[in-house]
Amino acid sequence: MLEALGVVRTYRLGRAAVHAVRGVDLEVHEGEFLAITGPSGSGKSTLLNLLGGLDVPDRGEVRYRGRVLSQQSRNTLAEFRGQKVGFVFQTFNLIPTFSAQKNVELPLVFQGVGRRERRVRAAERLEQVGLAGRLGHRPGELSGGEQQRVAIARALVADPEVLLCDEPTGNLDSASGAQIMDLLARLNRERGIALVVVTHEPEVARLAGRRVHMRDGRIVPDGDGGAGR
Ligand SMILES: Nc1ncnc2c1ncn2[C@@H]1O[C@H](COP(=O)(O)OP(=O)(O)OP(=O)(O)O)[C@@H](O)[C@H]1O
Ligand SMILES: [Mg+2]
Repeated sequence: MLEALGVVRTYRLGRAAVHAVRGVDLEVHEGEFLAITGPSGSGKSTLLNLLGGLDVPDRGEVRYRGRVLSQQSRNTLAEFRGQKVGFVFQTFNLIPTFSAQKNVELPLVFQGVGRRERRVRAAERLEQVGLAGRLGHRPGELSGGEQQRVAIARALVADPEVLLCDEPTGNLDSASGAQIMDLLARLNRERGIALVVVTHEPEVARLAGRRVHMRDGRIVPDGDGGAGR
């Protein structure tokens, strides 16, 4: 469904070059749960951003349903990022002055969905993640686990086919982290949303149907004793 083919991404800082991703082939299959593990700096976040069309590879290509992302029009790319993929980040990335409801509505504002429909859909998603009683709370009035659930509701509001999650439990205590992973796993199982989860935590990686390990910008064969085994 979503695939990286020979993807290379090099950051240039002045004269220095950081080879963040050095040639990755990876396919995300429909409805699967894939974990990406690997040490800090191995290129996991860079790869996730490339898969989600937030960043463009220097070499190689990312394809969604056979179409090369970098060859699509701005509108098609915006539609991909806005409706086909959802992002969940370690630091939640919510707007602090907006209520939970408004945070979840925001992607729909960008898509031009009318106010009434936005309200209904955002409230539905917040209910779905167990936050029916928290619609009017701002992020600062919510626990970390609740904030991450708002972020998941926001990622779900446009009914994406794949959720790209970058250390979604990284800032949570283990109980809240387990609840978040239960929620994500349930969305995968019951709604068939493909799940790609970058994680440092072996307990999280163990939940996935498939694991890949990154080192130095490459995917290395599983079985090298890395995390997630
Ligand atoms: N915007 C950027 N400009 C320059 N270098 C960057 C940039 N973003 C990341 N890098 C570098 O690219 C490499 C890969 O970074 P990346 O964030 O993908 O690693 P990661 O595997 O997600 O690490 P972590 O587990 O710590 O989040 C690192 O060496 C990092 O310093
Ligand atoms: Mg990272």
